[in-house]
Amino acid sequence: MNMAALVTKVLGRCSLPRLNNFEPTNISRQLTRFASVKAAVLHELCGQLKVENVERKKKLEKNEVRVKVHTCGLNVSDYLVTRGEYDVKPKLPFIPGHEVAGKIIEVGSGVSKEFGVGSRVLALSKKEFGGLSEEVVVAQSDLWTIPTTISYQTAAALADNYSTVLIGLGRRAKIKENDVLLIGAGSGGLGLAALDFAANVYKAKAIVICSSEERAAALREKGAWSALTYNDKGIINKVKEVTDGKGVQVVFDALGGPVFETAVKCVAHEGKVVVAGHAIRQAPPIKVAEVLPQSFSIMGVSLRNYLVADYETYRQAVQDALDMCEQELINPYVSQVLKLSEVNKGFKKLEDTNCPGKVLIEMDD
Ligand SMILES: NC(=O)c1ccc[n+]([C@@H]2O[C@H](COP(=O)([O-])OP(=O)(O)OC[C@H]3O[C@@H](n4cnc5c(N)ncnc54)[C@H](OP(=O)(O)O)[C@@H]3O)[C@@H](O)[C@H]2O)c1
Repeated sequence: MNMAALVTKVLGRCSLPRLNNFEPTNISRQLTRFASVKAAVLHELCGQLKVENVERKKKLEKNEVRVKVHTCGLNVSDYLVTRGEYDVKPKLPFIPGHEVAGKIIEVGSGVSKEFGVGSRVLALSKKEFGGLSEEVVVAQSDLWTIPTTISYQTAAALADNYSTVLIGLGRRAKIKENDVLLIGAGSGGLGLAALDFAANVYKAKAIVICSSEERAAALREKGAWSALTYNDKGIINKVKEVTDGKGVQVVFDALGGPVFETAVKCVAHEGKVVVAGHAIRQAPPIKVAEVLPQSFSIMGVSLRNYLVADYETYRQAVQDALDMCEQELINPYVSQVLKLSEVNKGFKKLEDTNCPGKVLIEMDD
């Protein structure tokens, strides 16, 4: 499939597996060898995670599979949920982690043949979490097959950020070749995914804003057309200068606060501002009157909301990200791989935001 066809899949068309029509297969004969598995458990909000043995879920529902987790991606939402600051309020004891790559070791009686024992799968368990464990039980609707050329690490780094960006830039903002895109939080997981798509799929010109000159240099190497730091004086003037005074067609912001306010002042006539997050934990104030002078649009994108409100687009976005990765068009940046026993170190990195790209947790041998 060529690149243009891949991109248009997310822009409009959605061809999905018909989940309701999957044929049932036999329940796996896999025997339960252990009564418990190791997991990272939260016992009190804002507390440290304890790596300990937890009881396995004994019996699968018809539509569920049991996945032996190889790698679990860490996301800001994992950090927020452990602090009680996320939409999902954890019922303690709680196991965070929702972006998982591993192998199926048991299937329920109603699961499609597509997902059998031994299948390499990506699971997004956005409702239940539980991925920071040697095993996780998920519904088949939360599963995607990992192509053989994609590693567990890459799959676990890809799904959440890249599908969010695909929906934001492709479906919502309808970004085009040669558009100028301004990315807030350029060195975070979402920012790097937006840069990857802009530079390597959409062929747009990405201007990224980040915290330091060192990070700006790294982002230029990754294909940024221009990289500025938060401290750069006159960001608006610089953006206007490189766009012949027109401004940018698209803003993709995951940072919020003053950077968002600056970015909004850089939008071109009929431009689009995609709000994907606010890493600084300060929701940007939106003054409705600001959209008038440039006749621009502000649009939000929440992957979690797509899961609930538009499952087909959600599913297709993850599939498209996997397809583009298989075709080596995109490649998520992993900054660190830690063991389950080091999980609190990973959460500290989320808290400190001192690790660009993705932090992954691999299960201990
Ligand atoms: N809409 C969705 O469905 C969706 C999906 C995934 C994530 N999100 C949200 O999007 C936001 C960013 O996610 P992410 O995965 O890109 O996060 P991340 O990997 O932690 O990156 C955030 C980046 O923001 C920058 N930053 C500057 N000041 C910061 C501060 N005070 N606190 C935190 N970060 C700061 C840092 O980059 P520099 O050092 O370059 O400044 C950091 O790398 C979060 O709010 C997350 O919850 C939303």
